[in-house]
Amino acid sequence: MARRKKIYEGKAKILYEGPEPGTIVQYFKDDATAFNAEKMEVIDGKGVLNNLLSEYFMNGLNTIGVPTHFIRRLNMREQLVKNCEIIPLEVIVRNFAAGTLSKRLGIEEGTQLPRPIVEYCYKDDALGDPLVSEEHIAAFGWASQQDMDDVLSLALRVNDFMSGVMLAVGIRLVDFKIEIGRIFDGDFQRLVIADEISPDSCRLWDIETGRKLDKDVFRRDLGNLTDAYAEVATRLGVMPKNSPQVTKPTLIN
Ligand code: CDP
Repeated sequence: MARRKKIYEGKAKILYEGPEPGTIVQYFKDDATAFNAEKMEVIDGKGVLNNLLSEYFMNGLNTIGVPTHFIRRLNMREQLVKNCEIIPLEVIVRNFAAGTLSKRLGIEEGTQLPRPIVEYCYKDDALGDPLVSEEHIAAFGWASQQDMDDVLSLALRVNDFMSGVMLAVGIRLVDFKIEIGRIFDGDFQRLVIADEISPDSCRLWDIETGRKLDKDVFRRDLGNLTDAYAEVATRLGVMPKNSPQVTKPTLIN
């Protein structure tokens, strides 16, 4: 069997060369990291859940006409995606104050924001992904003004879609991060939602109880991360209620 070519290994995913030109296989690892990889752990089953959840959100976005890099899921840990050039920005959309926004501006976590706020961070682990303004983005040529108009409109569409999907299952979408890629088609460039959308990159709170169902469970040591992600997957119908444990294979005697 031919060995496939690894293109990149990140904190939570590995990218392999895809079977056709212009495609990539995205493999979801079980590794969890936080605080710029200062805190690390392997969490059984996390990769499987994020693969299924990201498939669900990306499929939904494609269906309503928000373009994404997603082509199809290949197996429990891998999905086939379109190769794209990632704009070096983390695009964060916030509906309620939490995390760094709360720290930076002294706003109590959970405070509803007057309108969705979109922030940009420059993707650079060594610098700790610093917050940047559109001035920086234009001056350093990370994206054009036209790109940024499209990025903003994509981010707000993803926010509306994700907020609605979550609300329908009793979950509040507090904030999330997306990454945007460029796909070239001859002389034209198209922007698509890339990377992943999963509880690793969203803040999800149960509407009734406020219970956290996202990576803060790991960041803040609030319990079992797989249980929280499985709860989201179960509510969305992505994981059948009585499915066998996604974590470890069961031994049959
Ligand atoms: O998560 P943290 O408190 O470090 O930063 P934040 O700016 O409050 O994060 C806002 C949202 O973006 C949260 O849902 C994070 O999970 C997500 N995020 C991410 O997925 N990756 C990053 N490198 C930074 C933020």
